[in-house]
Amino acid sequence: MAEVVIVESADAAGALVAAEILRLIGENPRTVLGLATGSTPLPVYRALREKTAGVDLSGIRGFALDEYVGLAPDHPESYASVIGREVVEPLGLDPSLVHVPDGDPARIAVAGEEYERAIEDAGGVDLQILGIGTDGHLGFNEPGSSFASRTRVKTLTAQTRRDNARFFPSPDDVPRHCITQGLGTILRARHLVLLAFGGGKAAAVAGAVEGPLTASLPASAIQLHPHATVVVDEAAASQL
Ligand code: GLP
Repeated sequence: MAEVVIVESADAAGALVAAEILRLIGENPRTVLGLATGSTPLPVYRALREKTAGVDLSGIRGFALDEYVGLAPDHPESYASVIGREVVEPLGLDPSLVHVPDGDPARIAVAGEEYERAIEDAGGVDLQILGIGTDGHLGFNEPGSSFASRTRVKTLTAQTRRDNARFFPSPDDVPRHCITQGLGTILRARHLVLLAFGGGKAAAVAGAVEGPLTASLPASAIQLHPHATVVVDEAAASQL
């Protein structure tokens, strides 16, 4: 069962997770971080920035969970851009050590396997930061995703496209496909840290932590992991 930590605020969650990441970096300056996009992990990145002034982070390696298919890497809403803007630049990481799946439609046949190999070559992810979709998705593993899945192309659900429409000029501009680490990929990280804030995530959090193991709620896969921590505020914990 995942360990659940209820915190007062998103900022408190950010400070807690950043402290754990700093501890890992203290042990190994080449720590491999699993990075997530979305609004949820932002307090972690902010707290890390505050706590790492003067700490050499140039050896840190990173792997993002997912990417849209068909957005150029320099599109402002591509996850390559988001990770660059929110993580690599503010923390002064070496961009050549931080990877995002390749969403180039011409490369989707090979991109998944290449990404898996890159994670393996890095020795695997030490700590994977996770948000959760309102439908219980992890990365872009939508309901129905196999627990054994690896990095591959998926179709976004109507719900996720609606949820993410706020980042695009119109709902029609939200890409229809994505490339995402699989649930099987995510489960290989040594420590999973799932964050969720607000009542809108309460049902998904309850399903992930206490519901049956089911592909209908992909985040329930965390119950299979020996070291999973769920950091939530009171509102996100309200259905536990
Ligand atoms: C996107 C990302 C997920 C993220 C989810 C939740 O779908 N692919 O990794 O967990 O959004 O976003 P937010 O944290 O903004 O609620």
